[in-house]
Amino acid sequence: TYVVIENCIACKYTDCVEVCPVDCFYEGENMLVIHPDECIDCGVCEPECPADAIRPDTEPDMEKWVEFNRKYSEKWPVIIEKKDPLPGYEERDGEADKMTKYFS
Ligand code: SF4
Ligand code: F3S
Repeated sequence: TYVVIENCIACKYTDCVEVCPVDCFYEGENMLVIHPDECIDCGVCEPECPADAIRPDTEPDMEKWVEFNRKYSEKWPVIIEKKDPLPGYEERDGEADKMTKYFS
């Protein structure tokens, strides 16, 4: 599976949802996640994210992100259409420790 990681938080560009062939992105207030059981590993979303916040779970230390994506994809609604990014997205892109500062 592919997963959404920390740099999506407080940016939420949503370019990713436009390209997913199986509509497996789910939307929270501050970020999106991918449902790991629905993702077909096509990889087309990864280069679409301006924040570089999508990764394959084959990279090191991705277990916690797979569990995170699974947990919230079961709680949040599906998102299939691109929308405006969050206010301040440019300044926050790449900021450290976004989980502590902005995730709620
Ligand atoms: Fe969707 Fe493919 Fe990205 Fe998985 S890898 S979330 S199926 S676009
Ligand atoms: Fe987030 Fe990147 Fe999609 S910032 S909303 S994973 S395009």
